[in-house]
Amino acid sequence: MSSPPKRAEITLETQIESVDLAEDIALRVAAAAGFSEDDCHRIGMSVREAVINAHNYGNQGQKEKKIRLIIELDPEKLTLRVQDQGSGFDPASVPNPCQEENLLRTSGRGLFLMKAFMDEMEIHRTPQGGTDLVMSKRLPSAGQPVKSPFERN
Ligand SMILES: Nc1ncnc2c1ncn2[C@@H]1O[C@H](COP(=O)(O)OP(=O)(O)OP(=O)(O)O)[C@@H](O)[C@H]1O
Ligand SMILES: [Mg+2]
Repeated sequence: MSSPPKRAEITLETQIESVDLAEDIALRVAAAAGFSEDDCHRIGMSVREAVINAHNYGNQGQKEKKIRLIIELDPEKLTLRVQDQGSGFDPASVPNPCQEENLLRTSGRGLFLMKAFMDEMEIHRTPQGGTDLVMSKRLPSAGQPVKSPFERN
C-alpha cells in the first residue's frame, strides 16, 4: 500500500532571507524523498529562482505582501508551488535566453533554469491575480514495483 500524499503550506515574508529558507526546506524534503545530491541541488536552485522572482517582480519587495510555498509529495512526484501577491505576468512575453540576441544578457535565465532542472514547470495565476508557479519532479523511486516485505531478496 502506498503512503498518502503529504502537503505543507508555508507563508514566507517578502524579505531576502526567505530565499535561503525556502531552499533549505525544499532541500530537506527532496533529500527525504530520495532524490540524488545532484537532483536536490537542482530542486534547491529552482526554488531559489522562483522565490527571488516572487520577491522582486511579484511582491516588488513590499513587506505587507507574502510569498506562499506549497510542497506536495505523492508516490510519483514532488511538486513545489510558489505563489505571490503581485499582478502576474505573461510568460509568452519573456524573451528566450537561448536566442542569439539574448545570449550575452546576464539576466533572464531563472525561468529557463527551472524548466531545465525540473520535469514540469507551469505558470498560472492565483485567484487574486498573482503568479502561481508550479514545478514538479518525478521521484527516483516512481513507477518501481513496491516490494512485498515477505519477498525474499
Ligand atoms: N513572479 C513574477 N511576477 C511577475 N513577473 C515575473 C515573475 N517571475 C518572472 N517574471 C517576469 O519574467 C521575467 C523573466 O524571469 P527570469 O527569472 O527568467 O529572469 P530574470 O529574473 O529577469 O533574471 P535572472 O533570474 O536570470 O536573474 C522577469 O524579468 C519578469 O519580467
Ligand atoms: Mg529571475
